[in-house]
Amino acid sequence: MKKILVTGGAGFLGSFLCEKLLAQGHEVIALDNYFSGSKKNIAHLFSNPNFEALRHDITQPLHIEVDEIYNFACPASPIHYQHNPVHTVKTCVMGAINVLELARNVKAKVIQASTSEIYGDPLVHPQHEKYLGNVNTMGPRSCYDEGKRVAETLFSDYHHQYGVDIRVIRIFNTYGPRMSINDGRVVSNFIVQALRGENLTMYGQGDQTRSFCYVDDLITGIVDFMNYQGNDFGPINLGNPHEFTMLELAKKILKLTNSNSEIIFKDLPQNDPMQRKPVIDRAKNLINFSPKIELEEGLTRTIDYFKKELNSL
Ligand SMILES: NC(=O)c1ccc[n+]([C@@H]2O[C@H](COP(=O)([O-])OP(=O)(O)OC[C@H]3O[C@@H](n4cnc5c(N)ncnc54)[C@H](O)[C@@H]3O)[C@@H](O)[C@H]2O)c1
Repeated sequence: MKKILVTGGAGFLGSFLCEKLLAQGHEVIALDNYFSGSKKNIAHLFSNPNFEALRHDITQPLHIEVDEIYNFACPASPIHYQHNPVHTVKTCVMGAINVLELARNVKAKVIQASTSEIYGDPLVHPQHEKYLGNVNTMGPRSCYDEGKRVAETLFSDYHHQYGVDIRVIRIFNTYGPRMSINDGRVVSNFIVQALRGENLTMYGQGDQTRSFCYVDDLITGIVDFMNYQGNDFGPINLGNPHEFTMLELAKKILKLTNSNSEIIFKDLPQNDPMQRKPVIDRAKNLINFSPKIELEEGLTRTIDYFKKELNSL
């Protein structure tokens, strides 16, 4: 049994990680400042004696004896990370330093939740790990994109300078239950609008592409990479390479929700990437990563979750 710290443990991905690690018999501490996450996401875990929740902001130093750290604390949706961009940079950069110092002090293995956003608006398609990105340093998304890039640098430097045992994963768009209703991410946005009978807001013409991974597939990849014993610490892309346009996504959601809502078109926000699709060969080779849940199946499960959420409001 390992003692594991999950920063951002009350968030969308963090809460699923806590669940999986507890199911494997580990002791889990979910650390969170509850900025974009919620106690509701982890409420079902409180009765488990191996689970603890800790209110803390990772921009402040911390000391806890643990064997492993999953560094997931950081708002992930543009609405949340642009709310207080300076704090987003602090969370990425000072948070990474605090988590890495902790890992160094207690000799814990630490995995960083990096992101496909480090590729910016990519000029290479699909994106493999060797691509260095096309990122604006001063745009509305920079606090997150550049913050996450510096965090990767810090992870690499702590490894080379201090021998910290690190892993870096670049997560591509992931969806599933427990995404928050109002965070503006496209899957949850479309589903909530369709279920409420509101028009679906499409930014741009809907021809921009994304590839979405269902949360269960992603969590399997994350935990497998933490447990991977080889020398390669990443970065590895994790995501589902199945690519589709936002218009296709909207139409599928309208069909699955039996909604009569219409699609309305608005201007594309600044620096919104036109295309995103991971090359996952590296993850395949290292940990046999292979997403299994098809879009329709994942959307159906997510729609069921949002139906219950909206009914309980
Ligand atoms: N969901 C995705 O598609 C996706 C894609 C790429 C990367 N990621 C990364 O995965 C991680 C989790 O994303 P998510 O989708 O679960 O987002 P989320 O917003 O649901 O979860 C983030 C959690 O971190 C907490 N948090 C934020 N700042 C904090 C701070 N300073 N100190 C302590 N806690 C803090 C929030 O309250 C929240 O519970 C993030 O690091 C994000 O960058 C997610």
